[in-house]
Order: sequence, then C-alpha cells, then structure tokens
Amino acid sequence: MGDWVRLGDAADVPPGKVRCLRLADRKVAVFNENGTLLAYDDYCTHVGGPLTQGTYENGVVTCLWHGAQFRVADGAPLTPPAGGRLRPYPLRIRDGAIEIDLGD
Ligand code: FES
Repeated sequence: MGDWVRLGDAADVPPGKVRCLRLADRKVAVFNENGTLLAYDDYCTHVGGPLTQGTYENGVVTCLWHGAQFRVADGAPLTPPAGGRLRPYPLRIRDGAIEIDLGD
C-alpha cells in the first residue's frame, strides 16, 4: 500500500536540476536526472551536509562540505569521504505532483 505523501510540483524540478523539498522536519533532495525524478534524504552520508547546496553535474552530486560524490541514478557513493549509499524514497507522479512513499 505505502504511505504516499505529496512533496511538490514535478514542474518545479526541470531536467538537470535538484531541489530541496520540505515535509515537516524532513528535507528531501529531488533530482531530475534526464527526465527521471529521484528522491533522497537531503543529507550527505559523511556527516550530513546538504546535498542540494552542492554541485549537480553529469549525473553526479558533489557535497559542498568535504567533496564526497554520489551517482544520482542510484545513490551510490563514488568518492571519499562518503559514508555509504544515499537513502532513496520510492517516488511517483500523480496529476503533476511529486509523491514519495515514507514507508515508516
Ligand atoms: S558532509 Fe558531505 S562530504 Fe562531508
């Protein structure tokens, strides 16, 4: 069934861009990777830097704080000091809105 909640409008995250969308006290990084929207916690797995304030280029996000890099397509860590894979959320589009499954 899932616990789907609305995050925002899909049109607000154009291709090649990332946005921080808030849900109560949760910050979610939504990336548009070549037309596919992907959602992760907006926290670097090193010590919690805000991913959406880093650099997002060529499918890779680079953390602003210490330079860890992650592959946006699957959240895989690419360079130290990343602490592990990014935490993804199941995402769907309904009537132009981004919805994620909190699953908790
Ligand atoms: S918090 Fe992201 S690299 Fe350190």
